[in-house]
Amino acid sequence: MIVDRQGRRFRNLRVSLTAACNYACTYCVPDGKRLVAAQDELSADALVRGVAYLVEAAGIERLRITGGEPLVSPRLEGFLAGVAKLGLDDISLTTNGQLLARKLALLQEAGIRRLNVSLDSLDPEAFRRIARGGDLAGVLDGMEQARAAGMAIKVNMVPMRGHNLDQVVPLLDYCLERGFELRFIELMRMGHLARDNNAFLQQFVSLDQLLALIGQRHAFEQAQRPVDATALRYRIPGKGHFGVIANESVPFCRACSRLRLSSTGWLHGCLSSSNRHFVADLFDKPRHQALPALQRLLVRALADKQDVAFSGDVMVMKVIGG
Ligand code: 5AD
Repeated sequence: MIVDRQGRRFRNLRVSLTAACNYACTYCVPDGKRLVAAQDELSADALVRGVAYLVEAAGIERLRITGGEPLVSPRLEGFLAGVAKLGLDDISLTTNGQLLARKLALLQEAGIRRLNVSLDSLDPEAFRRIARGGDLAGVLDGMEQARAAGMAIKVNMVPMRGHNLDQVVPLLDYCLERGFELRFIELMRMGHLARDNNAFLQQFVSLDQLLALIGQRHAFEQAQRPVDATALRYRIPGKGHFGVIANESVPFCRACSRLRLSSTGWLHGCLSSSNRHFVADLFDKPRHQALPALQRLLVRALADKQDVAFSGDVMVMKVIGG
């Protein structure tokens, strides 16, 4: 097992199936920088072999499939079929929900029971201004169908001043009524926002500001959370829970157990570091050669983690996976 001085190790692997996305969210890509075709992405089989090796080399317990938008990838079906055979305890998926209704049966067949759906507004126009793609009705329909099929759903919302602060309470009520757990994600200094401090500060909403807003409508108390969870969790008695991923206000790097694999075969040990380690070539090697080499790179990836706090990075989130 690879463990660092702070006792951290990799338990959760996030695989970005593709950097392609049918949205161009304002917090992810800058104005005018729309979709760039994804290039040099690994085949489904190579990614599955990579996951299998990483599970063994790092002691991975849980897998999350991300992107880009994983449901747009033609490799989704092959990848799901492959990883379903690896015997992992838990496989979940992060999606913008646009293609959820269409892909639901496929996800269910692969044994996926948990979804995170990114949704920043229930107002169709504000939704389009933030996502710069897709349509709200399709997402809501997909979520309804997934709920009816028994999937556990978490909703991710990035509250931003000037964009969707008026949506904090409506979205929370919407989720509470349906048994979805809403998780507010403090805006992160990623990609263009790492370069443009003014744009970041104009939009940033802190944990305290968010809780004050929610407090006007609901009484809540802090709830327990697992040691390596990045979200603070709150209970609204009789109604449900919500979470806040407070990267800036309550740094959680000390408890981070995440490892990321990009669709082009690079390992990222930390979202707040530009360091990355090329591993795709190892996925073609036999186990006895691949594992020791991977382990050496995992030591380096683990050392890339910040000691305490996230400080941001110019890497674009959709390339490394949210
Ligand atoms: N700040 C906060 N959250 C972000 N995401 C992507 N970029 C950012 C950012 N700069 C989140 C979205 C999405 C998840 C995959 O990543 O909320 O739900």
